[in-house]
Amino acid sequence: MLSEKLLMKLNEQITHEFFSAHYYLAMAAYFKKEDLDGFANFFIVQAEEERFHAMKFFEFINDQGEEAIISGFQNPKRDFESAEEIFSLALEHEKLVSSLINDLMELAQEDKHYPSISFLQWFIDEQVEEEASMSKLLNQLRRVGEKGHGILMLDRELGARTFSPEAE
Ligand code: FEO
Repeated sequence: MLSEKLLMKLNEQITHEFFSAHYYLAMAAYFKKEDLDGFANFFIVQAEEERFHAMKFFEFINDQGEEAIISGFQNPKRDFESAEEIFSLALEHEKLVSSLINDLMELAQEDKHYPSISFLQWFIDEQVEEEASMSKLLNQLRRVGEKGHGILMLDRELGARTFSPEAE
């Protein structure tokens, strides 16, 4: 059985994941405005991934015989100033999410709640990928700069990203 504290933290993670979706959608809106549709697509797909993550927590809580709690959150930041700012904020955000997932895992281990440990392992692995992908794009962006041909090449590449839950 889930302890009260672990259940509360799992529920909070639903909110964090839905907030992440909103945050990335706000980033997509900036890129849309800048006519960088490929970058916008990258963040729209990222937002879909985050909703998928939220629903994994939702289903897990239900599978444990508990009721998932859906809470609200603050408005995400907008008025971004550059693509580089966005990718560094996205990387910072993913690092925060990784620390939340690590805290959840520590709690599950303290509770010796093996279903949670097994469930959370997927997220531990996922966060390695999430941080790596944001970090790689931030570095590529720094290399090509905000203007010129390079950013358009990157935009075309990111336009091809699609969401496939099986790959997540
Ligand atoms: Fe759900 Fe990007 O971590």
